[in-house]
Amino acid sequence: MTKFLIFCLGALAASCTGSPSFPDTALDYCAAQVRRTLAELPASDCTLTPRNIAPDSTRWHLNRVCKEEWTAGFWPGVLWYDYEYTGDTTVRNAARRYTEALEFLSHTPAYDHDLGFLVFCSYGNAYRLTQDDRYREVILRTADTLATLFNPRVGTILSWPREIPALGGHNTIMDNMINLEMLFWAAENGGDSRLADIARSHADKTMQYNFRPDGSSYHVAVYDPENGGHLLSRTHQGYSDTSMWARGQAWGIYGFTMCYRFTHDTRYLEFARKITDLYLKRLPDDGIPYWDFDDPAIPAAPRDASAAAVVASALLELSTYLGDEGTVYRTAAEKMLRELDRNYRGGTRCPALLVHSTGHHPAGSEIDYAIIYADYYYYEALLRLRRLNRGEGLF
Ligand code: GLY
Repeated sequence: MTKFLIFCLGALAASCTGSPSFPDTALDYCAAQVRRTLAELPASDCTLTPRNIAPDSTRWHLNRVCKEEWTAGFWPGVLWYDYEYTGDTTVRNAARRYTEALEFLSHTPAYDHDLGFLVFCSYGNAYRLTQDDRYREVILRTADTLATLFNPRVGTILSWPREIPALGGHNTIMDNMINLEMLFWAAENGGDSRLADIARSHADKTMQYNFRPDGSSYHVAVYDPENGGHLLSRTHQGYSDTSMWARGQAWGIYGFTMCYRFTHDTRYLEFARKITDLYLKRLPDDGIPYWDFDDPAIPAAPRDASAAAVVASALLELSTYLGDEGTVYRTAAEKMLRELDRNYRGGTRCPALLVHSTGHHPAGSEIDYAIIYADYYYYEALLRLRRLNRGEGLF
């Protein structure tokens, strides 16, 4: 609570001595929105978490935590970022409760690859900010569970076991890149070193088969589970098998940048730059992508604020690995964040940090919604920008 009072006094002092500047203005907005959400959630039941807000709604649609609900780690992650910014122990206590509601995942057989989103966004931030060893142990157990989906004949994690019949084999999706972070981290923090080998193998195969020569991504690559041979690459959530789905590209940019963080393998860094440069070249002027870069309905197609938030966060990290050549990525990230702050706020209509994200367009699901993962990566990116502006390290 003391830290929160200092935060409030700081905000008051800033308003007396002149306006606080970006990104603090945006972070103050995020902190206020988080308190609105907390006020509307049922305090006694932390197994209900915010998932989305429809364009004609003002309140969060809540989903029950379960192994199939891949977004359940983002709300506790938002709370941890808020605690990091404000020091508010009330928020920290809520973050603990929502995080601990996911503990069952560390002793449940793997449902799919999303374990990283679920457990590293929640427990990963929890451990980073509290150093509570019980949190580290949950991460290590879950990393081992995620590794059970690895097929050594293919060299990747099976992202969606349930989709084997529909897709025709062992499938690996671009989103899965994010979940390698938990494996790399576990290998460095008391887990089995084999977890890092799995992550590297998965990243290498993804680089080979989830991308076209120009650096644009396929959502899914399908392999023969017995001999490991590549069968086909295609889309699932994008416009077509030849299009560039914005969030898929975003996961790739974030994922390969993160792979460089853990491995210092320059192949990952160069690849992250390549796929980023294509993304930046194809962006609309305001820096926020349409949901798919090749939807023929552009400019009438919906945007995806979530992809913008993921990329902004990734580019801030990428910028730190490139010396002077990193400036272009930091500048681009800041431009994206300023645009999100200016034109994509949930604001007075609803308590989400951001609106105008697209979930699964081909399925007609979550089009032009507020979605919780956009908020998670937006809060993360703003905090990253703040640390860089203060001359602090990112992690
Ligand atoms: N991981 C699912 C998505 O990006 O929509």
